[in-house]
Amino acid sequence: MFGKFYDMRLALVFSTAWFFVEVQSLDNGVALTPPMGWIVWERFRCNVDCVEDPDNCISEKLFKDTIDRIASDGYRDAGYQYVNLDDCWMSHERDVAGRLYANETRFPNGIKALVEYANSKGVKLGIYEDVGPLTCAFYPGSLGHIETDAQTFADWGIDYLKFDGCFSLPWRMDHDYPEMTRALNKTGRPIVFSCEWPLYQSEVLIKPNYTLIGESCNLWRNFDDIQDSWESVLSVIDYYAKEQDTLIAASGPGRWNDPDMLLVGDFGLSYDQSKAQMAMWSIFAAPLMMSNDLRTISPQARDILLNKEVIAIDQDPLGKMGRQVITRYGIEVWTRPLTDNNYASVMLSRRTDGRPYSLRTTLRAMGVGDKFKAYALRDLFLHQDVGVFLLDEALHFLVNPTGVVMVRASPAPKAHG
Ligand code: GLA
Repeated sequence: MFGKFYDMRLALVFSTAWFFVEVQSLDNGVALTPPMGWIVWERFRCNVDCVEDPDNCISEKLFKDTIDRIASDGYRDAGYQYVNLDDCWMSHERDVAGRLYANETRFPNGIKALVEYANSKGVKLGIYEDVGPLTCAFYPGSLGHIETDAQTFADWGIDYLKFDGCFSLPWRMDHDYPEMTRALNKTGRPIVFSCEWPLYQSEVLIKPNYTLIGESCNLWRNFDDIQDSWESVLSVIDYYAKEQDTLIAASGPGRWNDPDMLLVGDFGLSYDQSKAQMAMWSIFAAPLMMSNDLRTISPQARDILLNKEVIAIDQDPLGKMGRQVITRYGIEVWTRPLTDNNYASVMLSRRTDGRPYSLRTTLRAMGVGDKFKAYALRDLFLHQDVGVFLLDEALHFLVNPTGVVMVRASPAPKAHG
């Protein structure tokens, strides 16, 4: 009798454990390369004043304008497929059934109609919520409504959810974020799931459990909100360098570190700094989510964002985040392995002493693998072949102040050496 009871309990434990693991992992098959798109927050913030500022407030108009630009100006075809709401899209109340709905003045046709508009242009719509009781801007959070909210988003045809962590307790997040993972799985709709879980935990010195996070989210923020400045970009790069062993191990196809939005096209970065952010984010295998005004963006900024050769590095199917291999005299070299024994390297200068810095190095020192004796180098911003080099042959790069040189190295098996 006792034995039977014990067996039953054991069976229950095993079946529950299996059930738990089974439903806990995110099961959506999306974001096998880092997601690319546009998100409103960094550039437009929580501007809800459509009377004073009708063109730039968080409204249906801004999103439709952006969807139009994404579809018509080459962004969608270059891979930027998501257009995402962020905070401040919703009404301050839920409806009688407990469901969220958009602010009716600013989104008079609701989110489902906006999704349909986006989809009609070949674009996907993303949305924002928070795991706590309120969003960071004090709109209703998902706590206590996780299943309802996941289902509402799925019913609207949403393809991407950014799930913030304001007003939540970081030590609850290992439980609360996976609750949304399970709720999203349950809808049956593959929705890219973007988390801020490790960021909020790191802030209170909890060591993030990246195994669990990687099983539960497609991407995750782990550092401060990006601001429109070079200092902010450098602070992200420094964090990624300091944590690189952890972050490289944590990421891969379907699970990405998110260093936050691209500022290219905004006010704070010079032309060289804009190329530097695009290059570094691609070396990180980071999501390329622009936050800018695509209605007024300069041709130079647009060219940087549409640089196919750099995008191909970011989107390389191997999905390996790069590593910082050299730091000296204000110069950093970062290298990531790519498919087909290719490598990508960025030479980044933090220097401000006016003239391009002359960097002398070799492929081996840059972290290019020694499986082949020689590699062909191509400059990804000049779109030029640089030549074929042996692993230990002297290489010379001129790197602009606060700028980059970015190259792809492809094996050149027939070279002599
Ligand atoms: C947090 C997030 C930002 C943005 C704001 C919105 O700060 O980290 O990316 O979503 O909230 O309020």
